[in-house]
Amino acid sequence: MTAFDCVVRGGTVVTASDSVRCDVGIRDGVVAALGRDLAPGAREVDARGLLVLPGGVDTHAHIEEPPRAPLRNADSFGTASASALAGGTTAVVCFARQPRGGTLAGHVAAYHELARASRLDYALHLILTDPRPEVLEGELPALVAAGHRSLKIFLTYEGARVGDAEALRVLAAARRLGALVCVHAEHHEMIEFYRDALLAAGLTAPKYHAWVKPMVVERECTHRVIAMAEALDTPIQVFHVSGAESAEEVARARARGLKVWAETCPQYLVLTADDMDRPGFEGAKFIFSPAARTAPDQEALWAAIRAGVINNISSDHAPSRYEGPDGKKAFGEDAPFTVVPNGLPGLATRLPILFSEGVSKGRIDLQTFVAVACTNPAKLFGIHPRKGTIAVGADADIAVWDPDKRVRISNALLHHGSDYTPYEGMEVTGWPVTTLVRGAVACHEGEILAPPGGGRFLAPGPYPLIAPRGVFPGPFNPVDGVPA
Ligand code: URP
Ligand code: ZN
Ligand code: ZN
Repeated sequence: MTAFDCVVRGGTVVTASDSVRCDVGIRDGVVAALGRDLAPGAREVDARGLLVLPGGVDTHAHIEEPPRAPLRNADSFGTASASALAGGTTAVVCFARQPRGGTLAGHVAAYHELARASRLDYALHLILTDPRPEVLEGELPALVAAGHRSLKIFLTYEGARVGDAEALRVLAAARRLGALVCVHAEHHEMIEFYRDALLAAGLTAPKYHAWVKPMVVERECTHRVIAMAEALDTPIQVFHVSGAESAEEVARARARGLKVWAETCPQYLVLTADDMDRPGFEGAKFIFSPAARTAPDQEALWAAIRAGVINNISSDHAPSRYEGPDGKKAFGEDAPFTVVPNGLPGLATRLPILFSEGVSKGRIDLQTFVAVACTNPAKLFGIHPRKGTIAVGADADIAVWDPDKRVRISNALLHHGSDYTPYEGMEVTGWPVTTLVRGAVACHEGEILAPPGGGRFLAPGPYPLIAPRGVFPGPFNPVDGVPA
């Protein structure tokens, strides 16, 4: 009998704190030993000359989340999880959305059924679109206790958004129950005002998506939601920070000691508003929200990543097809930007773009790369150290990575359900060779080997990182109605 089920041999193991030349011995799906010259495994993965990274943890992926008809999310759990594996990601946090006026619990149960087809482990954010008292007090406590410790609110998007009063109620409920609130922060009425004015002026092409939501729309809302979180002493994560001004709001909050975390996404690091001005209707491929900004915004985001102000890089994978009746062209090529579905596919390209633009180009070091792509997201959502690092006892979720491999990104490599990638033709340096999920080879040289159905629900219990600080701005605790 061999000592290990699998040994990843001869590589450089990289964590958020160290890079060490050693083998990884795996038994029963977990890392059992780290060391030189480990005994043979029943399976050997040759990592000589390669990096051995924790599998990526992508905490913002819209998978099989139904948009309004006739639109359709281009992925199933089968295709989305294949795509994640192809890009070295081994765990996702995706979204179960409460239909407005409907129950949350029923939808969460139905979503878990869909997720049974996942090839990798997943946790859930619960999107609250209608936080009525019977939902917050009747349904939410049991859902949080069952391991749904992230609540998501939209402050824009008709049909999904909540107003400030509702947002405050969600923040209060999260504080009481021990959950984190994640926020899509854009000022809804400002966007509507701009939209009406643009349409009245006949400015409808895809490039006007950038005009409808300038940075101030996001900056104001980021500031406002941070203030609401501070008032109720509730930890939050601001989703998809797109540029300098929002990052500054987050930096100020953190300097005041608030538990405010922030993510950005590769699209904000490599795309700009000019991409929406491509010929014909091509710009529609780059319509997502918040909108892509400018080159100086990109530099500000890199600086915020280096400073630890932005400490999570997710994909915000929200794929539509480009062609066909249910995607970007659903309403024709002359349709105004206002009806084009928002979002882009990004699960597979998140790590390669971040590695290439970050590590290969010298903007961040390897430890920062692992921190923002694997370890920090796992910590923030309560699934660390099981996920997001390589350590004895952790799940053997691993991306064996060739740091020198040059790849020209093409849609055919990505395994997702969309018919395009916004990064078609982009050359990256650094690509996963082998992805392991709980010790099993799930993808090798681009071939998906993990069957659908192997993924498990990750159900975090209470964890200290997201505990409130116990500090209110005044002498009264308005959540519990007692002196602070
Ligand atoms: O454009 C985007 N990001 N679509 C997905 C939904 C969201 O706003 O996160
Ligand atoms: Zn969003
Ligand atoms: Zn999103």
